[in-house]
Amino acid sequence: IFGYINYLVEKDRKTILDTLVNGLARLEYRGYDSAGLAIDGDKRNEVFAFKEVGKVAKLKQLIEEEKPDLTKVFDAHAGIAHTRWATHGPPSRVNCHPHRSDPKWEFAVVHNGIITNYKELRALLETKGFRFETETDTEAIAKLAKYIFDEHPNIDFTTLVKAVIKELQGAFGLLLKSIHFPTEVVAARKGSPLVIGVRTQRKMKVDFVDVEFGDAGPLPAEAASQNVALKKANNLLAPPDKSLLHRSQSRAFFSEDGAPQPIEFFLSSDPSAIVEHTKKVLYLEDDDIAHIHDGQLNIHRLSKDSGASNVRAIQTIEIELQEIMKGRYDHFMQKEIFEQPESIVNAMRGRLNLEDKTITLGGLKQYITTIRRCRRIIFIACGTSYHSCMAVRGIFEELTEIPISVELASDFLDRQAPVFRDDTCVFVSQSGETADSLMALRHCLERGALTVGIVNVVGSSISMMTHCGVHINAGPEIGVASTKAYTSQFVCMVMFALSLSEDRASKQARREAIMEGLGKISEQFKEILQQDQDIKNLCLKFKNQKSLLLLGRGAQHATALEGALKIKEISYLHCEAVMSGELKHGVLALVDESLPIVMILTRDSLFAKSLNAYQQVIARKGRPIVICSKDDSEFPGDKTDKIEVPQTIDVLQGLLNVIPLQLMAYWLAVAEGLNVDFPRNLAKSVTVE
Ligand code: F6R
Repeated sequence: IFGYINYLVEKDRKTILDTLVNGLARLEYRGYDSAGLAIDGDKRNEVFAFKEVGKVAKLKQLIEEEKPDLTKVFDAHAGIAHTRWATHGPPSRVNCHPHRSDPKWEFAVVHNGIITNYKELRALLETKGFRFETETDTEAIAKLAKYIFDEHPNIDFTTLVKAVIKELQGAFGLLLKSIHFPTEVVAARKGSPLVIGVRTQRKMKVDFVDVEFGDAGPLPAEAASQNVALKKANNLLAPPDKSLLHRSQSRAFFSEDGAPQPIEFFLSSDPSAIVEHTKKVLYLEDDDIAHIHDGQLNIHRLSKDSGASNVRAIQTIEIELQEIMKGRYDHFMQKEIFEQPESIVNAMRGRLNLEDKTITLGGLKQYITTIRRCRRIIFIACGTSYHSCMAVRGIFEELTEIPISVELASDFLDRQAPVFRDDTCVFVSQSGETADSLMALRHCLERGALTVGIVNVVGSSISMMTHCGVHINAGPEIGVASTKAYTSQFVCMVMFALSLSEDRASKQARREAIMEGLGKISEQFKEILQQDQDIKNLCLKFKNQKSLLLLGRGAQHATALEGALKIKEISYLHCEAVMSGELKHGVLALVDESLPIVMILTRDSLFAKSLNAYQQVIARKGRPIVICSKDDSEFPGDKTDKIEVPQTIDVLQGLLNVIPLQLMAYWLAVAEGLNVDFPRNLAKSVTVE
């Protein structure tokens, strides 16, 4: 989602369109199967909408072809835009956002998330004479807005949106624009992130925005979880009561003297689309409704729920523009792989003190004693983040001696797994917005567990909803395939385990050895990255292969799982990770002289056992490519294809071993001519269940 609103700042249509299209291009990594936008037309009460299948560049091309008058100037204007990752309805022009209430575009909406009761809403609105033109859930929102507006023509925009969202079940981040409220936008968030950037020409007077807690109105708040719309099939909404019509007093004036001043607002699913315009942002919280009108921003909530704070701070974001640019690299993924020597240091900066061998994790300080006493630690995550949890399970068990389990968020929820007050639940997520992880977090909060977030994106839902946590400080990760977030999560969790075991005398020597190892990782990353071209050449061996096996044992099984996921998601080559010990229990049947196999065989306590799997493969005429420790005489260069990695302490070896696999995935995809940063069917942030 991206929105741009200007007041008392003259902008021609070209600038407005460029701002919207550019905003979408920055957000494209979050979804890229179609894109669209809505702006004001040439006449009053007219909307121009442009929608195109494919990437944002295609939308830009379409706008150029349609030749709107680019010179028309607006001193106040509201535009909304969207780039889509299809959930309901295949990518097509008609299914692409913005969606409209009617052919005149009285209400236009862009939406992230899923409206779970859209079928009921649609059925109901059809009985009221609405004709649906798309297969999306979102269209119901626009039509519902028009229906309520037609019933209550004097309603103001916020009240109208309040009434609309009371009928919606599911998750949403949405923006609404209307010809009835020109130059206004209402944004609402429940489960899908939204951030508002503010740019003024003069200094701003305030650094926060009050929240207006409206009454819950005629419908009890719980009704949102029932099928309200159907129940009231013949009378969708009673006339809004006085409390709903009450207009917020909590205004934010953005000039020093309180007088109106030129101002621009940028609404976005994440700050990466905002940083080039302003560093001043405000994160909406779940259930917030933001109304932008007359140069002001008001934030409303339906009811005063416990825990909701009554101000939203205007913060200064620290992301720099070059962090979200590709720079000298061909792809974001490549850039992010090569950023790891630096991102890993950022994860440890100010936290790991090598001189006095201490770890300081400020975000956990208050809770560390409670966590030490908990009955178990449950790690919950999805995809790559799940693999990083798998990679550190062993070291947590060893250092803390607390029972550890690692859960896939979706499966954890499917099982409605038991959680208790004395559990610590750790949520690991790059985006901090993954729907499965967020729902699992709610499940744990409801059961009174202590929750910890290990998150990259500052201000994200998981970082805000957990009791405490650690930001991994990897910087923006734009490539859909996660790379630097994995290694930074890994390091932050190792530091977490070190912190928890600080009071255990018996673990001191081991702890110090790990800290020493952490101190050397960045240089070792650089050493591995120098083999980039050799790895690229090695990948030629996989040309025209249909399948690939990746073998690892112990903590290296997590490395194999992560490597296999990377290869699958960007090169579309089927790749299976196998725990080496399991090879003989079935998978060995696949092995012959042609199946490519990559084996992780760095030296650790399990090396002898891992070697058994290697011998089993060799005995079946397999020709594995080996990831091994530097100068290991077990794998003479003339006999074995190998990638050598430096040796580190066993618990950190996975950090080094994953780098060649990331590079392999990258070069395999490039060799196939695939678009590495935009793998088919995927999106960076999976905000749907
Ligand atoms: C794979 C990948 C995904 C994510 C997963 C969880 O490269 O990026 O598997 O790891 O969707 O996302 P986060 O970490 O944002 O919760």
